Amino acid sequence: MKQGNKQADQIIIFDTTLRDGEQSPGAAMTKEEKIRIARQLEKLGVNVIEAGFAAASPGDFEAISEIAKIIKQSTVCSLARASENDVRRAGEAIKHAASGRIHTFIATSKIHMENKLRMSEDQVVERAVQAVKWALEYTKDVEFSAEDAVRSDMDFLVRVFDAVIAAGATTINVPDTVGYSIPAPWGERMRDLIARVKDSDKVVWSTHCHNDLGMAVANSLAAVMGGARQVECTINGLGERAGNASLEEVVMALRTRRDVFHLETSIDATQIVPTSKLVSTITGYPVQPNKAIVGANAFSHESGIHQDGVLKHRETYEIMRAEDVGWGANKLTLGKLSGRNAFRTRLKELGIELATEDLLNAAFARFKDLADKKSEIFDEDLHALVSDEFLSVATEHFKLVYLQVASVTGEVPHASITLSENGQEKRAEASGGGPVDAAFKAIESIANSAAELQLYSVNNITSGTDAQGEVTVRLSKGGRIVNGQGADTDIVVASVKAYLNALNKIQSKSERAHPQV
Ligand code: KIV
Ligand code: ZN
Repeated sequence: MKQGNKQADQIIIFDTTLRDGEQSPGAAMTKEEKIRIARQLEKLGVNVIEAGFAAASPGDFEAISEIAKIIKQSTVCSLARASENDVRRAGEAIKHAASGRIHTFIATSKIHMENKLRMSEDQVVERAVQAVKWALEYTKDVEFSAEDAVRSDMDFLVRVFDAVIAAGATTINVPDTVGYSIPAPWGERMRDLIARVKDSDKVVWSTHCHNDLGMAVANSLAAVMGGARQVECTINGLGERAGNASLEEVVMALRTRRDVFHLETSIDATQIVPTSKLVSTITGYPVQPNKAIVGANAFSHESGIHQDGVLKHRETYEIMRAEDVGWGANKLTLGKLSGRNAFRTRLKELGIELATEDLLNAAFARFKDLADKKSEIFDEDLHALVSDEFLSVATEHFKLVYLQVASVTGEVPHASITLSENGQEKRAEASGGGPVDAAFKAIESIANSAAELQLYSVNNITSGTDAQGEVTVRLSKGGRIVNGQGADTDIVVASVKAYLNALNKIQSKSERAHPQV
């Protein structure tokens, strides 16, 4: 099957971790964090990086334009609603990209057109065509999405797609925005659209599936069987509500079942686990241990029968090799005696560029501190350390100055804490059910945030009891949800850092538009 000028046996991997993934509650990222993820996605071999939604806020615009300047191997894309302002913002944001795309969309289902857009079918078609034309003023690479295609009338979808292809769209995306579909009809829908739309062979057909019924990956693969040659997905399946199709599952299914699909991707699978860890560290969304491909247990065998089988012949119980997806690839990079240059060089290799010498010095001091407590330092430690450094520099309202926690058998745990609030030191003490509880209560007696704790989770960054603990704290206040992160070899300190980071994010109150509202 020929589509556009792309090879028919190649699946284009379109990663939207930085856009749809960022729409997960509390997963908002800073510009520096987005750049680090974008560099890693380029290393992973992603074809298209959806770097954000340029019209959402000046911060989003700036992050996309920086990424567009830095990334050379992947196409950099910005989302835009079908409005002149959105499309022009997207066009400006990607203008320095070696290869740039504008992705414009409008809803096509009756329920969205009548209740959200309050537009007639004719108006929607006209606006979609106009948006594609505005986008073509900036780039030849224009993607059009029919939001809520899963609940849209087929005749109307054909009409919209005919019109936008005639206007010059080069990729047509068919989203299951609400995660409503199931595989067989979704694959059929793709096949029917390709058969009915005029000039369907001149564009690349794409699918974008949400996971509300747990079928985003299955639906994406069904769409591929129906003729889609681009899959939109996110690392770890991050995304709105139950998330998007997970990149690692789609890629490894295509690869492991090449006998069924006969299709290739450009992904370097050995970069999958490092990318998953980076996204989890930065967003504060832990990966569940039994998650396919990237979960900590994905390749471990508990039962004796399985262990015996794997030892005798690996393929008895393993369909993929852990090392092929990047497990065990974490390198022992630096140690106590490593110098500043070695530190700077390794950060560079990891795609981390610290903007000033002061930042590098501060990060290096933290590294030396860590090396005193932990004999082996891995890439994951460096990522956590740099995230921590950026967080403490970027968000200064509350800072930890001093912490003492007493946890003695038979006695009530107690914490004494000194915080700096906007430069002014404040001290507090509290008792609690455990040392973390006591420390959080002491913080609250200073901050009085009235925020509700929604999630507290601890993960070890590497293995061993001297590993850094990485803590995520999710707080909600007035409808706003934020994730705070902290890392330290002492998990009470890591917890306090994470709590303060979340409080600082609540303080910062940055407002952004949501593309689908
Ligand atoms: O889920 C969706 O429909 C989207 C579109 C903007 C493509 O994210
Ligand atoms: Zn989506």
